[in-house]
Amino acid sequence: MASAHPHGSGVAARDHCLSPARAVDRPTGGARYGRMFRGLDPLGTDPELLMRAGGDGGICDAAVLDRLTSGGDDATEAAGWPFFGQLVAHDITADRSPIGGGVAPDVLRNSRAPRLNLEIIYSDGPIGSPYLFDVHDPATFLLGPNGDDVPRNHQGVALIGDPRDDVHLFALSLHVALLHAHNHLVDLLRADGVPEAEVFDRARTALTWHYQWIVVRDFLPRLVGAPLVEEVLAEGGRWFAPLPGEAYIPLEFADAAFRYGHGQIRHTYRLVDGGPEVPLFPDLVGFGPHSAGRRLDLAQLFDLPGRPPAQRAKRLDGRLAASLIGLPEQVTGAVDVAAYHSLAARDLLRGETTGLPSGEAVARLIGVTPLTVDELEQTWPHGTPLWFYVLKEAEHRGGGDRLGPVGGRIVAEVLVGLLRADPTSYLVRQPDWTPQLPAAGSRFGLADLLTLGVDRDRPAPAA
Ligand code: HEM
Repeated sequence: MASAHPHGSGVAARDHCLSPARAVDRPTGGARYGRMFRGLDPLGTDPELLMRAGGDGGICDAAVLDRLTSGGDDATEAAGWPFFGQLVAHDITADRSPIGGGVAPDVLRNSRAPRLNLEIIYSDGPIGSPYLFDVHDPATFLLGPNGDDVPRNHQGVALIGDPRDDVHLFALSLHVALLHAHNHLVDLLRADGVPEAEVFDRARTALTWHYQWIVVRDFLPRLVGAPLVEEVLAEGGRWFAPLPGEAYIPLEFADAAFRYGHGQIRHTYRLVDGGPEVPLFPDLVGFGPHSAGRRLDLAQLFDLPGRPPAQRAKRLDGRLAASLIGLPEQVTGAVDVAAYHSLAARDLLRGETTGLPSGEAVARLIGVTPLTVDELEQTWPHGTPLWFYVLKEAEHRGGGDRLGPVGGRIVAEVLVGLLRADPTSYLVRQPDWTPQLPAAGSRFGLADLLTLGVDRDRPAPAA
């Protein structure tokens, strides 16, 4: 049915002219990576050793624990939080260089703008990416049939801002929830009588600011602890404080600290109340239409008021779930080295090819006592790879739930620093801004955003 708002966006959907005004619609693209700790030497670990440590049966393989598990490695936080972190990662960093190396770190390109701007859903906006939007109402996102999937081309490829959001059912479901949230904001703005030409931009800004606020006030305090967030907000970054418009993603963040989330992924998940636990891979792999009838109830991922507690994330302990130690080919592509199927091996190898320092060196530089050999449970020839160090630090200094002082500082300084360097972020434009949307619980949080526009009284999907 044709919409009552054929020209919902301020810009006509079919107008492809190259007017300079289009720049407002266009993420910057093609950014460079940089470093937080420039003075520290690269660690230099033998790649064979890294592949053994990260590969099948190596020290990062949690398979043995997975077999023993029955909730024994549950973290305190709900299982959905790492998936939100994964979307944040997709929003700000995309290094598409081959895992085998060969590209010098200083010429690596980041295919995402280093801004928390929801490029994953908006991409180039209604003008640059018209296939994302409803042709009858280009202020709103087009959804798949039934509204529980994204639109796909006739070969099943997702038409979305970042293809990685289709990697598995959980990332996809969060992505779809954000599309619904945008569309609901459009409805609210129209109901408030906002002029049609402003509706898209205002909905986009509202969603982006709520998302940014959640990163600072909901996600980060859970991940690094509220005191560190407050410190970085009050004093700015000691190691990362780019000037407005000069932001970049540090390699210490992209190739080590923010890959913490790989350690929070479980091997199996329940999708609906009383349903069976199914392995993430291969069962829930994406990159094509999800099997009909495979529904995810968000209450299995996030604690929602009036619903039983959600599943928990996996505790951080330096080990990765079996699904990630043996990534399916849909995720890795065809590879000629078996270890490239292991995400742990890839994390370790990336840190090596981008010349990251050891975790101990970063700890000493920022003035904290490094982990002991006993805590690390593994000796490395010259020091501990930063990614592994961050996970072990979370185990011993963060109770398996939070990042420790090294990982926490990198993550907090980068996420807050990116917002500070973005002239359009709420933190720059209106630092005391708070969410305007209603909260189901005592305060607004991610679950409120993800259920925006969803009828909370609708019965949950059944097993
Ligand atoms: C099932 C869940 C996940 C899968 C299958 C997955 C898979 C991957 C893969 C294949 C890569 C590229 C590896 C390489 O060649 O270097 C990657 C990179 C990365 N992942 Fe994940 N990931 C998952 C969850 C997460 C989570 C929960 C987070 C953070 C909270 C995260 C953060 C990152 C970051 C920061 C990168 C580097 C991205 C870049 O700079 O291009 N991932 N992930």
